[in-house]
Amino acid sequence: MKQLQVKTHQGEYPIYIGDGCLNELTPFIQKATQVVVITDETVYELHYQTLAHVLSKEALVYVIKPGEASKSFEVYHAIQTFLIQNQVDRKALILAFGGGVVGDLAGFVAATYMRGIDFIQVPTTLLAHDSAVGGKVAINHELGKNLIGAFYPPKAVIYELPLLATLSDKEWRSGLAEMVKHGFISDEVLLKTLMSFHTLDPLQEEIFAALLMQSLMVKKNVVEMDEFEKGSRAFLNFGHTFGHAIELDEKSLSHGEAVAIGIIFALYLSKKTFKIDLAIDDYISYLKQLNFPLFLKADRATQYMNYMLHDKKNEQHQIRFVLLKEVGNPVLVTFSEEELKPMLQQFLNEMTKEVRVCH
Ligand SMILES: NC(=O)c1ccc[n+]([C@@H]2O[C@H](COP(=O)([O-])OP(=O)(O)OC[C@H]3O[C@@H](n4cnc5c(N)ncnc54)[C@H](O)[C@@H]3O)[C@@H](O)[C@H]2O)c1
Ligand SMILES: [Zn+2]
Repeated sequence: MKQLQVKTHQGEYPIYIGDGCLNELTPFIQKATQVVVITDETVYELHYQTLAHVLSKEALVYVIKPGEASKSFEVYHAIQTFLIQNQVDRKALILAFGGGVVGDLAGFVAATYMRGIDFIQVPTTLLAHDSAVGGKVAINHELGKNLIGAFYPPKAVIYELPLLATLSDKEWRSGLAEMVKHGFISDEVLLKTLMSFHTLDPLQEEIFAALLMQSLMVKKNVVEMDEFEKGSRAFLNFGHTFGHAIELDEKSLSHGEAVAIGIIFALYLSKKTFKIDLAIDDYISYLKQLNFPLFLKADRATQYMNYMLHDKKNEQHQIRFVLLKEVGNPVLVTFSEEELKPMLQQFLNEMTKEVRVCH
């Protein structure tokens, strides 16, 4: 087991990572008047017994339906009602036991119930190495993702890696894309090592735990430098401007699978803007080897543009991208709709014809 500390405006919290770290929950549970576990049906079925084993107190459990649709006002309200009806008090502890959906939702519940009660992230997906660290919690509005939220750091992140063994390949890919993103924005060695894997198989091994640790370090360093996203934290959105558009347009993709495609466009724009070679073909080959679904449709430029124009991070109708001057050197660049649309169309034409990404 390894430990990292994350500094926030409210003090520090630990991240425990490895095999057996669920036991680190004990002191937090002993201190709490009540424990409330928020999880989803899949994680409950697969892993609740493992968690229950280390809970010394009887816990209240709220189980949501798996998937992004649960990050809603309705589910948020239902959980608040559950807490009130069960007379959960200010000294209770919420455990967010699941992937990024559970983490974001349970974190926002914790941030707002009685003006804030303690919560601990117990992530169970690879992607959640990203979402559980940094204190951003949120639910969705029907007009956009993550629009209602807070910066609310957990008391700890407890990352029990054996729980990841039941993830599907799709979920592995999703988390891997965020690791690759961390490589692109800050660590060429991490990037090159990740891209040297040609199958998903090594993901279960020791070497992978070391890479995951490096990826966590990137996230930790970025959020410590800019907890409230006044500047450099935005670099974590590398691949996300176009990635979110793809995610909204093609519902069969997981978040990370869409981000992986978003990264292709960010590399393309970086090449155009800074006249640099970022080995885009190597990156696409890597994604293909790992069977990433590379949905890109040449006739959907207008729809993609509309999704990007509605991104909450835009200011004054400018579309904001994180681009790279080189690997490890991200910069924020904004484009007007008129500037971006022809570049997007050219990108889609080239990708769907020459690289034959998808039709
Ligand atoms: N707060 C942040 O900083 C931040 C950062 C990145 C992403 N996010 C959010 O994270 C969410 C995506 O997270 P996610 O990909 O973990 O999604 P998720 O929570 O929906 O999990 C993906 C799927 O995996 C299943 N699952 C979870 N753990 C499992 C396990 N151990 N074995 C088998 N199946 C398991 C879930 O039931 C679900 O069906 C999005 O809502 C995104 O907005 C937040
Ligand atoms: Zn992401």
